[in-house]
Amino acid sequence: MTVHPFPDGFLWGAATAGHQVEGNNTNSDTWFAEHVEPTVFMDVSGDACDSYNRWEEDVDLAASLGLNAYRFSVEWARVEPEEGLFDDDELGHYEGIVDRCRELGLSPIVTFNHFTAPHWFAMRGGWLDPDAPALFARYCRVVADRFGDRIGFAVTLNEPNITRMLTWMDLPPFVRELEAATLEACNVHAGVPRYRLSNVMLPEEIEEFAEGMEAGHRAGKAAIKEVCPDLPVGLSIAVMDDRVVGDDSSVRDRKRVECYGRWLGLAREDDFVGVQNYEAIPYDGAGEVKPDPGVPLNSMGSAIDPTSLAGAVRYVHDEAGVPIMVTEHGLCHEDDSLRVGFIPPAIAGLREVMDEGVPVIGYMHWSLLDNFEWIFGYSKHYGIVAVDRSTFERTPKPSAAVYSAIVRANGAEG
Ligand code: GAL
Repeated sequence: MTVHPFPDGFLWGAATAGHQVEGNNTNSDTWFAEHVEPTVFMDVSGDACDSYNRWEEDVDLAASLGLNAYRFSVEWARVEPEEGLFDDDELGHYEGIVDRCRELGLSPIVTFNHFTAPHWFAMRGGWLDPDAPALFARYCRVVADRFGDRIGFAVTLNEPNITRMLTWMDLPPFVRELEAATLEACNVHAGVPRYRLSNVMLPEEIEEFAEGMEAGHRAGKAAIKEVCPDLPVGLSIAVMDDRVVGDDSSVRDRKRVECYGRWLGLAREDDFVGVQNYEAIPYDGAGEVKPDPGVPLNSMGSAIDPTSLAGAVRYVHDEAGVPIMVTEHGLCHEDDSLRVGFIPPAIAGLREVMDEGVPVIGYMHWSLLDNFEWIFGYSKHYGIVAVDRSTFERTPKPSAAVYSAIVRANGAEG
C-alpha cells in the first residue's frame, strides 16, 4: 500500500470515450461497421450508456468520488458530420461538458480522436488518405477554437499503436478473417474501394496507417497549438509491461521497437505522453511465456498483475523523457472484488516510480462506466460503476469506493 501522499495537484480521474458511452454515434465509421454483414463487432453500440443525454450525471458521479479530472473524447463524427460542415450545436454540447467539469473542479482531459472518425473520413480511406492529416487538423482547430482555452490537456490520438500491438497477441485466425470481411462489407455498402477504420485494420496496412496517424498527430497538435499555445498536447499509447524471462531479451526488445518505437520517438517532441496499460507480458527467447495454470486471469486472458503499471510507466519515461499522464489503466473482469484488490497496489507502484524521479502528472482509471468494449460489445466490463443495460441506471461498485478513498487521501494509505 502507498504510505505517503502524491504531489499536490496530482490529477486523479476516470476515463471514458465518446463512442463507448454516448450512444447513437450514427455518423461514425464504427457505427457503420457495426451494422454491415458480416461484422467483427459482437454487438451494435446502440444507446451505449446513453451518456450523450446523461453526461451531466456522469460528470457529477466523477466529482462525487472526489476526482479532480475527467477524461472524455469529442466525437469528430458529431462535430463534422459531413466533410467541411461543422455542427455548432454539437460543439456546444462538448463545450457544456468542459464547462461543467470546471465548475465541479474537474480538469477536462480531452481526446480529440478516440479511434472513431466520421463515416465520410472512412469512405476516403481513413488515415491512408493523403489529405487525412490536414482534415484532422482542421477539425482540431475548430474544437480548440471553441473551448481549448478551458481544457486541461489535449490528447490528439488514442492508441495509434493498438493494431500493431494486437499482431503480437494470439488472436484466433477467424478474427483476422472477420476483420477483413468487415472492411470488405463496408466497401460494398458504402460503394467505395477502400473504407478504412483505425481500430479494425488489415495487417498489411498497419505501417501505412501509422504514417498517416503520425502525420495526423503532428498536424493536429500544430493546429491546437496555433489556437492555444499553452495547452499541453500529447498522444496516448497502449503499453504493456513487456518483461524478459531468462537471459534472452531479443523477442521482448523486438516487440518494443515494433510496437512503441515510432510513437515514443514522436512523444519526445510533446508536452506529455499518455500511457495506457492493462497487462504485463513475459517473453523468453522463443516468444511469449504463458501464465502458469491457476494464475488468476483477467477477462482478456492475461495474468492479473497490478505491478504492470509501474513497469510500463518507467519504460515509457526512459524512452520518451517527457512527463507521463496515465490516461488509462484498469482491469477487465466481472468480479469487482478483483478490481478492489487491484487498484491500491497498482497506485502504490506508480508512487514508487515517481519516487525514482519519473514525472507523472495524473492517473485516469479506465473506466468510469461499464461500456461498449469495441468488437467485444457489452460482454466485457472495466467500469468502477455498473450501468443497467435497459434503464441506464448507474450503480457504483465497491471498487469506486476504494478508488475514491485513495483519491481523497491523495494516494496515502487510507
Ligand atoms: C483501450 C482503449 C479503450 C478501452 C480499453 C479497454 O485500448 O483505448 O477505448 O477499450 O482499451 O480495452
